[in-house]
Amino acid sequence: MPHYNIREPAANQLLEHVKKLEDEDKPSVTTNSGNPVGYKDATLTVGKRGTTLFQDWVLIDELAHFSRERIPERVVHAKGAGAFGYFEVTHDVTQYTAAKVFSKLGKKTPVAVRFSQVAGEMGYPDTVRDIRGFALKFYTEDGIWDLVGNNTPIFFVRDSILFPSFIHVLKRNPVTHLRDWDMFWDMVSLRPETTHQVLIFFSDRGIPNSYRRMHGYGSNTFALVNDYGSFYYCKFHYKTDQGIGNLDADQATRISGEDPDYLIRDLYNAIASGNYPSWSLYLQIMTPEQAAASPYDPFDVTKVWLHAEYPLIPVGKIVFNRNPKNYFAEVEQMGFDPAHLIPGIEPSPDRMLQGRLFNYGDTHRYRLGTNNLQLPVNRPFKLHNYSRDGYGTLDSQGGAPNYHPNSFGGPESDTRARGLSPVLPVVGNASRYDNGDEDNFTQARLLYQKVLNPAERGRLINNIVMCLKNASEFLQERAIKNFSSVDADFGRRIKGGIQAQLHSHAHAEL
Ligand code: HEM
Repeated sequence: MPHYNIREPAANQLLEHVKKLEDEDKPSVTTNSGNPVGYKDATLTVGKRGTTLFQDWVLIDELAHFSRERIPERVVHAKGAGAFGYFEVTHDVTQYTAAKVFSKLGKKTPVAVRFSQVAGEMGYPDTVRDIRGFALKFYTEDGIWDLVGNNTPIFFVRDSILFPSFIHVLKRNPVTHLRDWDMFWDMVSLRPETTHQVLIFFSDRGIPNSYRRMHGYGSNTFALVNDYGSFYYCKFHYKTDQGIGNLDADQATRISGEDPDYLIRDLYNAIASGNYPSWSLYLQIMTPEQAAASPYDPFDVTKVWLHAEYPLIPVGKIVFNRNPKNYFAEVEQMGFDPAHLIPGIEPSPDRMLQGRLFNYGDTHRYRLGTNNLQLPVNRPFKLHNYSRDGYGTLDSQGGAPNYHPNSFGGPESDTRARGLSPVLPVVGNASRYDNGDEDNFTQARLLYQKVLNPAERGRLINNIVMCLKNASEFLQERAIKNFSSVDADFGRRIKGGIQAQLHSHAHAEL
């Protein structure tokens, strides 16, 4: 097979399959009910030129399945790639959390990952500018723990009620069915809390050159509880061991045309060649006292916790060493849900996290069905509860009673989990507090002035100009006003860049 040795592993998938079959008998084709099919190349007709008979079950069986092959794509993060591997504890963090996944040095837990882009649909090119999803599923002895993060430590908005609108402005105009930069810059400029993440979006990190070469962040604030009932706030970071790698805007545009599946291909081929990507997992810890005294809201997902004040604490290593056996079964049907938490890890009052706790399970019930948690890729090792039946039921829980309380050995409350449930003091007046005008620029300024070098600042400005030039003039002005609040020179340079674009456009028309 001369081709075999020179092609990438992904291109050889079918050849690999045939190699495996060499020692086995080639199976005969069956219907979906496993009944052998005598003729696979012709429908059942009356005479050679005659009409097809309704009794052709073989045909109906296949067509009926075919017309149900697609399910609703994810409402966000529709395009992605998945893999499997393990997490290994390398450092002791039991002083912060009793979560069993962290209980012992050297302990290994199976994990799954799905990388994704946010805005595009299932067939979108991989190398467009976007935030990238980085969702982890830990199959722990205490059930599933999903850490559903992105490749940015922050997000655009800080209140869940703004999330659907924000996604609408990233996606298509409902009339033209096109991306619409008026929609985007309108919302971004009306809600200046987006500024910090807009800077990251238009920075070099907006187009990674590989899913393997980006960091991941849980982004939202979580809470940890240790065996003694002490309580800490926490952010999760997973740093790539491959080093950061990005594409510049021109390279990315070219690759979009040449290979729209560039990032999926890269991940598949790396793992198939035994080049397993890995990440180091870290915690940032804030005590409740520090949270109470913090000058900014520690539950605001548009803000980072400064590393100088809250250093990264190493925890372990995540390695991906297996590609999916079937993309649809194991990746499309994978459901990540921030509400899937294990004893020792709790939610925080972060308003975005609170909205997420509802939304993911809800969309899974719509997208994947009532019993999506019984699918092999989603199911926990142990399942003992009082839920039964519904579409796609696989598990009858060994004949245990389906009502509680009962006298027939049904599962009881878990005393360890009870001990680890913190008693939350909640006080205050219930109201709708618009927090849009909380300090929106200090951290964006730090990023612009102290983190980015001059060349990176130049590319950031250019990337913003090339997008903002497409928006209406009054939106450009409002956006520039926000960028000037980050740094006056930053605003001036964006303004100058847009004027230069308008001039060159006018010249081109002459
Ligand atoms: C109120 C805020 C948010 C809401 C309501 C929300 C909602 C959703 C929904 C409905 C999905 C589709 C899930 C599916 O069909 O399986 C999704 C996917 C996703 N979201 Fe969010 N999201 C929010 C904020 C965030 C934030 C802050 C992050 C990052 C920290 C994030 C990361 C992701 C990722 C990575 C996926 C893809 C998961 C996968 O690969 O299956 N989301 N989100």
